[in-house]
Amino acid sequence: MAATAQAQPNIALVKYWGKRDTRLNLPVTGSLSITLDALWTRTRIEFDASLRHDELRLNGKEDPATLARASACLDLLRRRAGTTQRARIDTRNNFPTAAGLASSASGFAALVVAADAALGLTLDRRTLSMLARQGSGSAARSLFGGFVSMAAGQRDDGADAVAQPLLGAAAWPLAVVVAVTSDRRKHVGSGAGMERSRRTSPFYPAWVDSAAADLAAAQRAVQARDFAALAELSEHNCLKMHAVMQSSRPPLLYWNGATVDCMQRIRALREDAGEQVFFTVDAGAQVKAVCTPDAAPRVAAALAELPGVAQVLSSRLGEGARRLDDSEAP
Ligand code: DP6
Repeated sequence: MAATAQAQPNIALVKYWGKRDTRLNLPVTGSLSITLDALWTRTRIEFDASLRHDELRLNGKEDPATLARASACLDLLRRRAGTTQRARIDTRNNFPTAAGLASSASGFAALVVAADAALGLTLDRRTLSMLARQGSGSAARSLFGGFVSMAAGQRDDGADAVAQPLLGAAAWPLAVVVAVTSDRRKHVGSGAGMERSRRTSPFYPAWVDSAAADLAAAQRAVQARDFAALAELSEHNCLKMHAVMQSSRPPLLYWNGATVDCMQRIRALREDAGEQVFFTVDAGAQVKAVCTPDAAPRVAAALAELPGVAQVLSSRLGEGARRLDDSEAP
């Protein structure tokens, strides 16, 4: 009753920021993301009848907050398997945790795939996406590779709030350059942040009202491989989400000075140097530059020279969460 799985983070181009149900993590709006390949979470899980509690080590260290969320998600799979056995979970990220690099997305996607295999459930991808969503809303998207769209759904039980693949990673090969400007954990997590925005931002209703049009336009741009359209739409949607964050009370200001410098540099690369590149920023200070693979080394070099950029990571688009051989356990 042991299995290992790997999942990669995904970066939303049309963002999820707001829940219609906080218990099931049901999003108010749909979203659209790309799954990375160079950044990953690897998780080994072993169910053991002699354990009295679940145990979790993240990057070799016990982590009570992550353990509580993982246990709640595992309960959903245990219930389906008709077992109450506790588990030992060993998980590792090859990138900074909880700093706006979507570690919860890859974390919960890897967890449900590993637990499904360890318990012999063989659930379908749609069901795994639904279960991962209950761990973290964005994790539903990391079950799939390439371009992924996530439905808001309408049902109260969330059965239709699942992700689905839109376009494979190889069908439109893009690259992502991540400028890491801080490796500190964010001061307000996404879940708490979006609830604050829902309750207090005067811009929140406009954010929700304009989401379906953004999603439809982004889906069209992806299907047509229209880089310029996707660039314009993604930057607009990102800055609109940050306007909602920043107009919340108290304000959610996830950026630092280097975050703004990176966004300005990326715009200059596109508008002055003609590079095919655009930015997006999540609930953290890191900047993700989405670009064509040939532009990636130039984008990485331009961001690396900015003061305050501690590290630059480059990735292509990758596959969805999958089981690994146990020899690749973290
Ligand atoms: C800004 O999925 O981390 O990255 O459902 O509460 O776990 P919870 O939130 P989470 O939120 C992601 C927010 C975002 C935008 C996005 O990925 O769509």
